[in-house]
Amino acid sequence: MQLNNASLVAMTHLFLQPMRERKSGKIINVASMAAFIPVPYMATYAASKVFVRSFTEAITEECKPYNIQVMLFAPGLTKTNFNEAAGINNEKGVGLSSDYQTAATQSPEEVADELLKALDAKKHFQISGNRNRMGARLASLLPNAMIARFMANSYRKKTGLI
Ligand SMILES: NC(=O)c1ccc[n+]([C@@H]2O[C@H](COP(=O)([O-])OP(=O)(O)OC[C@H]3O[C@@H](n4cnc5c(N)ncnc54)[C@H](OP(=O)(O)O)[C@@H]3O)[C@@H](O)[C@H]2O)c1
Repeated sequence: MQLNNASLVAMTHLFLQPMRERKSGKIINVASMAAFIPVPYMATYAASKVFVRSFTEAITEECKPYNIQVMLFAPGLTKTNFNEAAGINNEKGVGLSSDYQTAATQSPEEVADELLKALDAKKHFQISGNRNRMGARLASLLPNAMIARFMANSYRKKTGLI
């Protein structure tokens, strides 16, 4: 929460002031697919990304009169150092660590390319990857409680908890 939320808010405010004065600038805040769904057993991480989404969507409008482009960017599964940094690249992370072998995984280069194209296209919101875009659309049609139940059951099956 300190890194994903408090630091993000502090940095946004720090850079916004000079952008407002010169009436130009761009801010990209990185959320996640977890910004759209509750994620049991990664509850705090997912909730921190909901904060990023709400905060960024609100300041997008606040910044428009100052010609500042704010963009919420939501990657899905991306092959980075995430599992290692989170300490879940071992047996402790069964069911939690990202499976980089799935077809849904994107490379950091692919994700960065989508981000820059969306920025050039003056977008305020972009989900990375076709599958993730479809996933977010599907998730918006289902009750959050149903998604949380499905994900919790899937985690428990992977870990042998049930
Ligand atoms: N990988 C995915 O599947 C995925 C999916 C959705 C969203 N995301 C989001 O994408 C963003 C980048 O993550 P990533 O996958 O690239 O993970 P990563 O490979 O672990 O990179 C995380 C970055 O954050 C920096 N960092 C970590 N703790 C920090 C701290 N306390 N203070 C300052 N910097 C710190 C790290 O700096 P150092 O290298 O100096 O440690 C590193 O540059 C995150 O916001 C993550 O939530 C990732």
